[in-house]
Amino acid sequence: MQKILAAAAAMLTVYGAYAAKPTYLDTEKPIEQRVEDALSRLTTAEKVALLHAHSKFSSAGVPRLGIPDLWCTDGPHGIRPEVLWDEWDQAGWTNDSCVAFPALTALAATWNPEMSRQYGKAIGEEALYRNKQVLLGPGVNIYRTPLNGRNFEYMGEDPYLASQMVVPYIRGVQKNGVATCVKHFCLNNHEANRHTTNVIVDDRTLYEIYLPAFKSAVLDGGTWTIMGAYNLYNNEHLCHNSVILNKILKGEWGFPGAVVSDWGGVHDTDQAITNGMDLEFGSWTNGLSSGKKNAYDSYYLADPYKERLASGKADPKVLDDKVRRVLRLMMLTSLNGNDATGSMCSDEHYAAARRIGNEAIVLLKNDGNLLPLADGKKVLVVGENAIKMMTVGGGSSSLKVQHEIIPLDGLKAAAAKHGLTVDYARGYVGDTGGEYNGVVTGQDLNDNRTPEQLIAEAVDKAKNADYVIFVGGLNKANHQDAEDSDREGLGLPYGQDAVIEALAAANPNTIVVNISGNAVAMPWADKVPAILQAWFLGSEAGNSIADILTGDANPSGKLPFTFPLKLADNSVHHIVGTGKEYLGTKRANEDIYDVEYKDGVLVGYRWHDTKKIKPLFPFGHGLSYTTFAYGKPTLSAPSMSATPAITGEATLSHSPEQMRRASIAAGNAITITVPVTNTGSREGSETVQLYLTDVKAPVARPAKELKGFAKVSLKPGETKDVTFTVTPDDLAYFDADAHAWAVHPGRYRASIARSAGDVASTLNFTLK
Ligand code: BGC
Repeated sequence: MQKILAAAAAMLTVYGAYAAKPTYLDTEKPIEQRVEDALSRLTTAEKVALLHAHSKFSSAGVPRLGIPDLWCTDGPHGIRPEVLWDEWDQAGWTNDSCVAFPALTALAATWNPEMSRQYGKAIGEEALYRNKQVLLGPGVNIYRTPLNGRNFEYMGEDPYLASQMVVPYIRGVQKNGVATCVKHFCLNNHEANRHTTNVIVDDRTLYEIYLPAFKSAVLDGGTWTIMGAYNLYNNEHLCHNSVILNKILKGEWGFPGAVVSDWGGVHDTDQAITNGMDLEFGSWTNGLSSGKKNAYDSYYLADPYKERLASGKADPKVLDDKVRRVLRLMMLTSLNGNDATGSMCSDEHYAAARRIGNEAIVLLKNDGNLLPLADGKKVLVVGENAIKMMTVGGGSSSLKVQHEIIPLDGLKAAAAKHGLTVDYARGYVGDTGGEYNGVVTGQDLNDNRTPEQLIAEAVDKAKNADYVIFVGGLNKANHQDAEDSDREGLGLPYGQDAVIEALAAANPNTIVVNISGNAVAMPWADKVPAILQAWFLGSEAGNSIADILTGDANPSGKLPFTFPLKLADNSVHHIVGTGKEYLGTKRANEDIYDVEYKDGVLVGYRWHDTKKIKPLFPFGHGLSYTTFAYGKPTLSAPSMSATPAITGEATLSHSPEQMRRASIAAGNAITITVPVTNTGSREGSETVQLYLTDVKAPVARPAKELKGFAKVSLKPGETKDVTFTVTPDDLAYFDADAHAWAVHPGRYRASIARSAGDVASTLNFTLK
């Protein structure tokens, strides 16, 4: 009998190997069919288990059905090292050192969607190698105040630029079968009180400024997941917000993917059920309080959800909707049948990081063409940021890298080729910490000398150098460019201004390299001939900085946000004050801060241009080692007419790209062409910008708004035509009363510009 049973079992095994796959595992079948099949097989307990974390970064699969757990990882500029199942401490793996790519402000500063695509492809491959299904990024919250500690993780102050840059990143990542999780949706524009800030913003501002990059990410990028923000809008947390998640994201935009909570961003089971939350993660074991162990069952979308389902208080249809979204995500990632393995720390990834870094660095100022450095000279490097590793710290984006080239080493590596001698002086002591979450840089940055001694040494050496390169700025310590805290002012910390002033007085060839993800005050800007904005550039930081300083690469980055002269010039602080007023008003009996976005649509350059407040460096600004001449622009037609489609409710659900294509196909577009010539002696790239102005607007509109840009590479003497297509949608504003985009007939102006502050020429056209 036993033999017969064994033979039967063996036959079953063989048969099993040849049996047709169940539909949900059959990658030949349409995804929706697979989702329905999987759904039909699940018990209620299994369904609920899919909707909440069961470790710091994973949620459960269905072991019985061979559906694997779902793994997430930060993001957004490298793959975070592994932590313990239930702790933030390091797991201590030896195979989780990654390539750090430039932070997202740097990516935005390339103004090159192709760089975004390459970035997405490379980081997606690293995520795949580490067996992650969801990359927690990119972030596209709008840069509203330079005090926001997390601006470095985002793509700047302009919704159009952020939209254009986020889409290729998403496509690049998701091509690998790894989902992006675009964050933090939405209105998360500063870090202080991030769990308790309730944003009050009018609809027009919401739709014109704070939503477009997310909308493009959803409708054009096709992101498979999106992360709710910590803060509140309309008195509801954004991880369960009826307006933002249900009405806009899943309603108007028809988002079919999963809404993932920020870690610990869920606060209420009933709201999470009804207000659009699909997948709950937590910062603390039970998402509620610190330190309680093994309590994932207490998550809002865990046992409390099961209880409501059992007692008939929760609608099973709503449960199925959430489960479908998570299953869909699994079909697109771990169950997509693609056996590609990704790759980690490859030469290609380092090359991509360096290429992006080189295109990101912005030459802010270069009087007398001081840069690039002439070969064979004596260079003194001063400043902590020349020797400090920047990939560790700053919050959840902190990384454990295989290597990071610090600026001093990058320059030393380039020295032989260029016959440079490189000396170093510390100049100031800032943040000597080099640890985050158990990852240590291993650097000892302690220096007990007084500020006076440090300055004296630097000045002494500066006198004998041909060039002085000061490398400073911010770092990833609290209250600088770091998560969960804001900056305390616009100024550089640690007395750096005094060091720069002293160096500039000692050596006229003083160059400042500012490393930050935020604008900083530069009271010494007139006293130094050259300034570079160098961002957090990741693993290849030092090489990219050296490439630009030596001229091995020609700078082509442009600012993705305005550098105001002083904090009071920024719209937020101009209106409410330069202290803590921007954090709003605390409610009497509640730990909630109401923050009204009184600046409305006048964010960044929209404010500076409209109010005629000259910035230190405008949005879109960036120089090159060559020069470009803009020729006379031409217009394909003097007018166009509005299509009926662009004023209806329907437009809310249309992808911006689709709308453009439809207008162009209907002949409802005009083109603007401008010839651009490289008038210098070296090859270089220029980003030509198109801004549009509604000359007689029925509502108060910004002086001009970015609606097109193109980066062209030109050899010396070469001319290329840059062409922009303008469709009626580019002229629309959000009519809050009608709850629709609206355009009106009349006159419009196109400005062809080098930056928001440097318009080369203008053209007028009309909309009939
Ligand atoms: C951050 C997210 C991050 C998550 C997981 C949160 O505190 O706000 O951006 O993805 O932690 O680390």
